[in-house]
Amino acid sequence: MIASEFNNRRQQLMEQVGHNNIAIIASASVRTRNRDVDYPFRQDSDFYYLTGFNEADALAVFIPGRKQGEYILFCQEFDEKKALWEGAHAGLEGATQDYGADDSFPIDDLNDILPGLLENKNKVFYPMGRDSDLDHHLMEWISLIRSQTRSGINAPGELVSLEHILHEMRLIKSPAEIKLLQKAIDVSAKGHIRAMQRCKPGRYEYQIEGEMVHEFIDHGLRAVAYPSIVAGGDNACILHYTENKAILKEGDLLLIDAGAECDHYAADITRTFPVNGVFSSEQKLLYNLVLDAQLAAMQEIKVNTPWNKAHEASVEVLTRGLVELGLLQGEISTLITDEAYKIFYMHRIGHWLGMDVHDVGDYKINDEWRVLEPGMVLTIEPGLYIPEDCATVDEKWRGIGIRIEDDVLVTEQGYQVLSHAIPKTIAEIEAIMQ
Ligand code: GLY
Ligand code: MN
Ligand code: MN
Repeated sequence: MIASEFNNRRQQLMEQVGHNNIAIIASASVRTRNRDVDYPFRQDSDFYYLTGFNEADALAVFIPGRKQGEYILFCQEFDEKKALWEGAHAGLEGATQDYGADDSFPIDDLNDILPGLLENKNKVFYPMGRDSDLDHHLMEWISLIRSQTRSGINAPGELVSLEHILHEMRLIKSPAEIKLLQKAIDVSAKGHIRAMQRCKPGRYEYQIEGEMVHEFIDHGLRAVAYPSIVAGGDNACILHYTENKAILKEGDLLLIDAGAECDHYAADITRTFPVNGVFSSEQKLLYNLVLDAQLAAMQEIKVNTPWNKAHEASVEVLTRGLVELGLLQGEISTLITDEAYKIFYMHRIGHWLGMDVHDVGDYKINDEWRVLEPGMVLTIEPGLYIPEDCATVDEKWRGIGIRIEDDVLVTEQGYQVLSHAIPKTIAEIEAIMQ
C-alpha cells in the first residue's frame, strides 16, 4: 500500500475529528504464547489502517490544526541490540521519515507527553474498552489536567467512540484495498484448488489443510486470515470446527473454509466437495440447493438494496428446497415465519469482509438494515447442516454439512465475485478432482 493512501485516510479522519479535538489509537501488543515464545505479531487493523506502521508498543495521536504537526507517533526507539536479535524497526527517525508522522516520541515518554497534548481539547476520540490499561491511563491523564484547571487549563469534557468514524471509512474499500483483497483471494483460490486435487479417502483433514497452507506460504502469504476449517463428513456440521484431525472417508463430503491474509486483508472462502471426487445423489440434491440459494442471494447484491435482502432470498430458496426434498413439512410461508429452516441453516448469509474477516461497519442504521454501496465487500455463504444425530430426517441425508462461500464486491453496476476462480458447480468440481 502506498504512503499517500495512509495519508489520505488520516486527512479524512482528521476532517471528521475537527479542530480543538484529539484522536488517540494504540497498536496491538505482543502476546506471550508460552514462556519466552510469543504469538506471531498481528497489528491492530484500525491502527494499521491509519498508520501502515507494523510494530507493537506504538500509539498514534491526531490533533487536527496543531501547528507543530497534526500526526504524532509514539513508538519504540531504535535499539542496536533489538535490531540484532529481532530485526529492523523504524525508531523515532523512521516514524517521521518513512511513515509520515509530523513528530515522534519514545513510547516510554507517553506519560510525560500525552497529558500536555490533551490540554484544552474538547473531545477525545478513542476506541473505548479495548485496552483496559490504556483506558485507565487516559482517565488518569484527564484527571491530572482537571487538577490544574485553576491555572487556566481545561480538561477534555467528552469521550467519543473513534470506531464509529473509522469503521464507516473502512467499510468502503478503495481500489488499493480491493487489490490486496483480490490477492488474498487469488492465493486462497490456488489453495482450495490444490486441496480438491489432492484429496482422497484415507488422507487426514490436517493433510488437506497442509495442502492449502502450502499454496498460501508458497505465494508469500504466511498468515491465515482465521483458523482453517477442514471438516470431513459429520464434522462439517460443527460450524467452527478447527480440530482438523479426522481421517477422510469414502462417500463423505469435505467442507473447507479457509483464507489467506495479504498485507492485513482477509480472504474468506468455503468450498464443499466429495472426498472421492464424485457426489452421491443425496449430496448432489443438497449441494445444488445450497448453490441455488447462494445464486439467489447474489441477485440481491446491488446498490441501494438493503443488506438483509440477500439473507431473505437464501432463506426462501432453502426452505422451498427442503420442503421439496421432504426434509421440512408444511406451508413455505409459515415455515419461514416460524424459522423452521434454522434447524438446518442456523447462521446468516454473510458479513462484511476486509482487514478483519468479520469486518467492521454497522449492518443497521437507526434500526433499519443498511443499503449496499459501491466499494463494500461481503461474503455470501449459505449452508445446510444435517448432523448424524438428526433423528427427524431420513438417514440418507445425515452426516452432510455443506457451505458455499464467496467474496463479493458491490459495484455501481451490481456485483463482482472476487473468488470466482474456484470451481463451484458439481460439474466443475468433479472435473477438477478427476
Ligand atoms: N470463516 C468464518 C466465516 O465464514 O464467517
Ligand atoms: Mn464468512
Ligand atoms: Mn468462512
